[in-house]
Amino acid sequence: MKPIDKIIQGDALKILKKIDDNFVDLGITSPPYNKGEKYKGWLVKNVKYNATSDNVSEEVYQEQQIQVLNEVFRVTKPGGSFFYNHKTRWARGKMLHPIEWIKKTKWTVRQEIIWDRMIAANIRGWRFWQIDERIYWLYKSIDDNKIGEELKSKHALLTSIWRFPPERKNGHPAPFPLLLPTRIIYSILDDKKGVVLDPYVGSGTTCLAAKLLGSNYIGIDISKEYVKDAEGRLKNYLDYKKIVTEEISKHIVEKTFADRKNDNGNTGKYRKGKLPSQSKLL
Ligand SMILES: C[S@@+](CC[C@H](N)C(=O)[O-])C[C@H]1O[C@@H](n2cnc3c(N)ncnc32)[C@H](O)[C@@H]1O
Repeated sequence: MKPIDKIIQGDALKILKKIDDNFVDLGITSPPYNKGEKYKGWLVKNVKYNATSDNVSEEVYQEQQIQVLNEVFRVTKPGGSFFYNHKTRWARGKMLHPIEWIKKTKWTVRQEIIWDRMIAANIRGWRFWQIDERIYWLYKSIDDNKIGEELKSKHALLTSIWRFPPERKNGHPAPFPLLLPTRIIYSILDDKKGVVLDPYVGSGTTCLAAKLLGSNYIGIDISKEYVKDAEGRLKNYLDYKKIVTEEISKHIVEKTFADRKNDNGNTGKYRKGKLPSQSKLL
């Protein structure tokens, strides 16, 4: 099938299997993180989905994620990308890193982006407070070219560390902020339009960004209630236009590399023991 502008209720893997090959231009998702509901802590108590338990064995979880990622790969056009939001976790002191299972999929890992959420979900002193999540830019190469097209400077200048707080005004237990899919869609599709997929769409944030940027969307979620909420948000999409406009205004090149060089300004290169400050680079 070739669904367009639809939020589909059901299991991500089962629905993905019904979608045609090479149909999607870009995908973005934040899957359930397999938090392990038998453990205590703020995150476990407060982030509970209404239709699924987020507690399977880690082995089963990773295998499911590999299957979903490979199915997303199949439905994505060659040259297309998938942005996979996850984070490092620990189970009984052992670190679980998303790259462990991502590397077992068919995708080429194009970049690891740090999302600085500025606030910790779990505030305990076993480790430094974890305020970061990761966003993996996964790429489906055309033939054997694993590098792909260059990003325009106005997007690339936003760097590999993205700083914005998590969403607060949303009834869903774990939404990402609208800025996040907006940044991705605008950077990757630029002024082109395409089909944008989110297989764990929750409150529909990815679809909302796609719609506001003039693209088409496909969302999947197992919860009937979240699908209804997502559809409600999409009906009122214009209420969110300001957030999208604000993100777009950040994609600018104030000074080109040549301008910086001519002004004897900071080109980002290491000079005489001085590290470039980030503010000067932007
Ligand atoms: C982290 S949330 C996504 C939130 C979303 N990014 C947003 O902004 O609202 C993960 C979602 O995955 C859904 N989910 C869990 N298991 C699923 C499955 N097997 N198939 C489809 N959706 C699933 C949950 O209902 C939840 O809404």
